[in-house]
Amino acid sequence: MIILKTPEEMDKMARACRIVGEVLEDMKGFVKPGVSTKDMEKRAEEKINARGGTAAFKGYRGYPASICTSVNNQVIHGIPSHMRLKDGDIVSVDVGVYIDGFYGDGAVTLPVGEISPLAGKLLRVTEEALYKGIDMATIRHRVSDISSAIQNHVEANGFSVVRAFVGHGIGMSLHEDPQIPNFGVSGQGPRLKEGMTIAIEPMVNARGYEVSILEDGWTAVTVDGGLSAHFEHTIGITDGDAIILTKLT
Ligand code: MF3
Ligand code: CO
Repeated sequence: MIILKTPEEMDKMARACRIVGEVLEDMKGFVKPGVSTKDMEKRAEEKINARGGTAAFKGYRGYPASICTSVNNQVIHGIPSHMRLKDGDIVSVDVGVYIDGFYGDGAVTLPVGEISPLAGKLLRVTEEALYKGIDMATIRHRVSDISSAIQNHVEANGFSVVRAFVGHGIGMSLHEDPQIPNFGVSGQGPRLKEGMTIAIEPMVNARGYEVSILEDGWTAVTVDGGLSAHFEHTIGITDGDAIILTKLT
């Protein structure tokens, strides 16, 4: 069941989402060679709590950390550790915040020092694909119009979209209906309606789209060892263009 939000509820969600945006923005300046992913988690959690929020992922289905940090061939759900980032790495930071009854969810993938041209292109194309999807998030379209816009952009650039994980509705729960796949033909699935709030989150692999899960039960990695990137925004559907709730204005 898709839960539509009133403008007042969307305003409340905007609070959670603004904190997500602030944490991700702060991470852009914090991530550098020598920093551990645990350092990132500590800093993010402090910032979330200082703003009165709660880190939404901690304890979610038993997830053991406050944020997800996924390095290089890790796709999503990487668990922060004492491993230090090094020059040339890429690291996806995924942050969820709960405050005042509502959730916000967002992610960016950041370069660590100097990265390869391939890694740079992967980050650029994945973020562009997210915005191609957001462009389709209007009441004139259906869910799979978002999906196909993402897939087309990714494949036109020679990369592949992960199938095993999808975007999602979000609101009073972290995950609500509908699912938002990052692949598919256009014109399918539910019609988008004013008041829908969804998290769009393309995961893009440099080589094949297949993923597997490490023995920790969480970390998704590429099967072929290729690089992977992930960008996510929580957005609200209006009668015009979507509002990007996790974007700092
Ligand atoms: N952005 C991811 C999602 O929507 C993060 C969830 S991590 C988890 O599912 F630990 F909470 F599962
Ligand atoms: Co999400």
